[in-house]
Amino acid sequence: MKQDELKKAVGWAALKYIKFNTIIGIGTGSTVSYFINALGSIKEKIIGVVSSSKNSSIQLKKVGIPIYNFNNIDNLDVYIDSADEIDKYMQMIKGGGGALTQEKILAFAAKQFICIIDSSKQVDILGRGPLPVEVIPMARSLVAKELIRLGGLPEYRYGVVTDNGNSILDVHNMNIINASLLEERINNIPGVVSVGIFAHRKADVVLISTKNGIKVLN
Ligand code: 5RP
Repeated sequence: MKQDELKKAVGWAALKYIKFNTIIGIGTGSTVSYFINALGSIKEKIIGVVSSSKNSSIQLKKVGIPIYNFNNIDNLDVYIDSADEIDKYMQMIKGGGGALTQEKILAFAAKQFICIIDSSKQVDILGRGPLPVEVIPMARSLVAKELIRLGGLPEYRYGVVTDNGNSILDVHNMNIINASLLEERINNIPGVVSVGIFAHRKADVVLISTKNGIKVLN
């Protein structure tokens, strides 16, 4: 099975976790895009969604799913999103699509975080690929120097402006032994908006799409 087919299968499998008459948090990316299409097929059964990005909102509108302003929502039943990497503790690296800050906010707020991935996203130790960090543009150089002090090699994601008007640094070669501690350290650098380590707010359930079907971790 091709990676796209695996993503589609897990996007549709996530429908099982949607309760009727609830508001659902929606992540960003190609796997989530399959989930949005699937959600469209039961849109009359839910109240609506809160979106983590402009890109997801565009697709949600096309599918005809009502989008709510997060500031008016008290109760987010479930948050559905994918990840760039996930370890056996359900800690993740996210932000490949640059939407990490709003994703982190919705993940924090939701009662349950369901992570939908294809099996290529599973890693023994986080840090196989780059670690995205959203930064305030005027602090980019300061934050980059601090990330070098922490052992990483930051690379400016040229031409990318996040939905919040900020920049992204992709940090290579980061040694992520203690993901929670590194998440706190990077978050504490002035100018950092958020870091793509999701260790404090991990996934609660992981649906893994494999060539032999969907595996569930919880
Ligand atoms: C976006 C993300 C995505 O969840 C992550 O990049 C995975 O994307 P895809 O489903 O396209 O593989 O964190 O900011």
